[in-house]
Amino acid sequence: MHQDLKNILVSEEEIVAKCKVLGAQISHDYRTIGEIPLLVAILKGSVPFLAELVKHIDMDVEFDFMDVSSYEGTESIGDVRIIKDLDRSIKGTRILLVEDIVDTGRTIKEVTRLLLNKGATEVKIVSLLDKPSRRVIEISADYVGFEIPNEFVVGFGLDFNEKYRNLPYVGVLKDEFY
Ligand code: IMP
Repeated sequence: MHQDLKNILVSEEEIVAKCKVLGAQISHDYRTIGEIPLLVAILKGSVPFLAELVKHIDMDVEFDFMDVSSYEGTESIGDVRIIKDLDRSIKGTRILLVEDIVDTGRTIKEVTRLLLNKGATEVKIVSLLDKPSRRVIEISADYVGFEIPNEFVVGFGLDFNEKYRNLPYVGVLKDEFY
């Protein structure tokens, strides 16, 4: 375990096992409606999750990236700014938004609104982590990996000031580091 962490909350093995379950569910659900979603991953935190998840989706999915900013340090600033937009048109497309964590809910709410404004016919959300106790906006992901308590976590894409994204597990950062 990294020395800056208090404990590991979700191990690499648990994440991989959960991505298999989520991938199977997602494949089943979209196969049932007969459509293939475009996966839209929010940079940078969702990249490791997207990379693991797509291995277990048994359809010809495509993915694209958006970069939005809603956070400075550990505090949400409430407003979502687009830093990098999608490369392609999404008119008439079903979107599966890929997130690392749903915290206050502001990011997924704003990004969902943006994608619908761009002509997406549907936006569903898959999030590796969910912190329901921190919710400010009434919104939830359609597919959730792990519900976690109200603690600041890093690893598997999640950062503190750009650090710890490369850890293969999710852990709680020691208080003295943030
Ligand atoms: P929301 O808009 O408050 O739901 O925040 C979502 C974003 O906040 C995530 O995509 C993360 O980038 C960041 N975030 C929220 N909680 C944590 C955490 O515990 N560790 C690291 N980043 C977090």
